[in-house]
Amino acid sequence: MKKISILAIAFSTFLISCDNQLASDRDPIEDKVDSLLAKMTLTEKIGQTAQRGTSSRVKGPLSEELKTAVREGRIGSLINVMNKKYVDELQRIAVEESPNGIPLIFGRDVIHGFKTIFPIPLGQAATWNPQLVREGARIAAVEASTFGVRWTFAPMLDIARDPRWGRIAESPGEDPYLASILSEAYVKGFQGDDLANPSSMMACAKHFVGYGAAEGGRDYNTAIIHEPLLRNVYLPPFQKAIDAGVQTFMSGFNELNGVPVSGNQFLLDQILRQEWKFDGFVVSDWNSVTEMIAHGYCQDEKEAALKAATAGVDMEMTSQAYDNYLGELIDSGEIDLAQLDRMVRAILRVKFRMGLFDQPYRIDKPEVVLSEEHLEKAKNSAVQSVVLLKNDNKILPLASEKKLAVIGPMADAPLDQLGTWVFDGNQKDSVTPLTALKESLGTESFNFVPALDYSRDRSELQFQAAVDAARKSDVILFFGGEEAILSGEAHSRAHINLPGAQERLIKELKRKTKKPIVLVIQAGRPITLENIINDVDAIVMAWHAGTMAGPAIVDIISGKANPSGRLPISWPKSVGQIPMYYNYKNTGRPASAKTFVGIDDIPRGAWQSSLGNESHYLDDGFTPQYPFGYGLSYASFSYDNMTLSSDTLSEGAEMIIRFDITNTSHLEGVETAQIYVLDKVGSITRPVRELKGFKRVNLKPLEKKTVEIIIHTDDLSFYNGNNQLVLEPGEFSVFVGSNAQATMRKDFWIR
Ligand code: NOJ
Repeated sequence: MKKISILAIAFSTFLISCDNQLASDRDPIEDKVDSLLAKMTLTEKIGQTAQRGTSSRVKGPLSEELKTAVREGRIGSLINVMNKKYVDELQRIAVEESPNGIPLIFGRDVIHGFKTIFPIPLGQAATWNPQLVREGARIAAVEASTFGVRWTFAPMLDIARDPRWGRIAESPGEDPYLASILSEAYVKGFQGDDLANPSSMMACAKHFVGYGAAEGGRDYNTAIIHEPLLRNVYLPPFQKAIDAGVQTFMSGFNELNGVPVSGNQFLLDQILRQEWKFDGFVVSDWNSVTEMIAHGYCQDEKEAALKAATAGVDMEMTSQAYDNYLGELIDSGEIDLAQLDRMVRAILRVKFRMGLFDQPYRIDKPEVVLSEEHLEKAKNSAVQSVVLLKNDNKILPLASEKKLAVIGPMADAPLDQLGTWVFDGNQKDSVTPLTALKESLGTESFNFVPALDYSRDRSELQFQAAVDAARKSDVILFFGGEEAILSGEAHSRAHINLPGAQERLIKELKRKTKKPIVLVIQAGRPITLENIINDVDAIVMAWHAGTMAGPAIVDIISGKANPSGRLPISWPKSVGQIPMYYNYKNTGRPASAKTFVGIDDIPRGAWQSSLGNESHYLDDGFTPQYPFGYGLSYASFSYDNMTLSSDTLSEGAEMIIRFDITNTSHLEGVETAQIYVLDKVGSITRPVRELKGFKRVNLKPLEKKTVEIIIHTDDLSFYNGNNQLVLEPGEFSVFVGSNAQATMRKDFWIR
């Protein structure tokens, strides 16, 4: 008997100590959230779910209605308040006059820089340099936070396989692996090492999910993605954002497989919260809650509020369905109070993590904005984003004695070089290619004739002047592309060639002068070149590279910098080829160069099945203009001596892929070595290859380096037809090289 009671005492002491242990493990923020929540009225709770905002162009005085709403605790966050005085005043009202003094979060689209504008995200993806991307995001946070912006609606992590889609400019491109690496870089850059630091800006992983799969590349359009594809291609960058500590997600505008994502419980609850254990909060996109009415998914605002809240949208951006109906829905029991508490708890938790209760106010540091250091970093990012696509006869870099004709609508387009989603950058801070050329070459060595006033200009009136200027020169430097307004939200294009009379002008210049043409493209997407590719000698893709685009481009074409950008997306020959992405499935009748017969080679009257019956286009074949991962350098590189540390792996093992890269030229350069893996047979069909690793390698003239890239068997698992993550035994191939068409290969087995 005595023994038993001693045991019982020991056991209960053990339990108590476990309990204390658990209590002390509990994040103290959770206690703070609980005690705050306990004091809040229903109105205040609903208030936290409201994000109110104005269009970024409205600059008018603060309305009394808004101030009163903040004072009464009816607003949790504001978007686009871009006047420092108003930010300070509204925050003071929230903290000092609202019932529980809960601070506001001020949000803004700070997508690729705040005042110092970096290349568009697709351009930054072309750097394949996560460190640079992280530094760019950090700079954006440092600048924006001085204006009170502590929350950016970035990074946009939508995998995009269709360059007609205007928002491809904002995307990380077509590949889930590269996008995941960049996802981490952006989140860590925006949020910094300490979210509570007043110069940190909370990130938002958007648009969850499938927005980039809009049918036909038409913005807001329906997305249909089967679940294994969703999990294997579209979700990974989002999951990586959580690993990197992202605190918010944005539900998109689109529907996915029949259910608008802003009312999609499977995505917002099952995957995001239950599977991934996300404990931050979800904000809707701008009015995406009430847009579920137009989608035909909700009868009215009340049903939209019910479906969004039930699915897992915690905060409603700008529309006011929650404000108007959550109270009623709770009274009627259609939404449980516990559900509202869960939503508010997530928002408050994040506000505590941001340190807003201790330091709610903006810290003014105007000196950091557009500082020399920031501009230098932006230039470096722009330099590394440039992709050299074509360089016949090594026309680039331009020999200094060459006399240039500088022609084209984008040579001096300070607004357009900033790209889409630039609300705070100012074109007066842009350094254009024309200005940079004047600074580096002086005005003597070139003739400038824009010939077209803007990218869509169709007038041929200045063509003759351009031809005259070209005749007096050795080389034509043609600055073409798209204005910023032609990409971005709602700016999809059905034709993605150079708009306006640019193609006609290029042809005219070639026909009449026969001079070499260097085409520099500044655009928000790949541009189809089918009509002019043979008329130009070199092609430089500079994206919309931001404030410092001009000096970056001039450094590249003059040879001061050696191009190192690589395409984060396949570059199609024509719109008819789209979607064209490197990690496609093989089909039962894969195309082959050996048997392909092009449209002009088909004998007249050929018999129906005499043409190989393979998956290709008669007119545009089956390969893109330039593959994913592609980009030239002024140096040249060769690969050899590829080895695998083992040709058989078991689950949990790692494999070292080793190879040599030699710089075979007399110029220093950076090669981005890429590793692709093919899983030959799967329980569901597998892509022809998938990027699994890459390394930027700097090589001195004639230098040779041995490179190692390690892959783990986890990198080879995938979601099968039952949506389970599996590693399937069998034979694999690894390809090593400089783009997605790499051919150096070794095989291995997973046993
Ligand atoms: C709509 C866009 O889809 C989203 O990306 C953006 O963050 C919001 N508007 C706020 O401007």
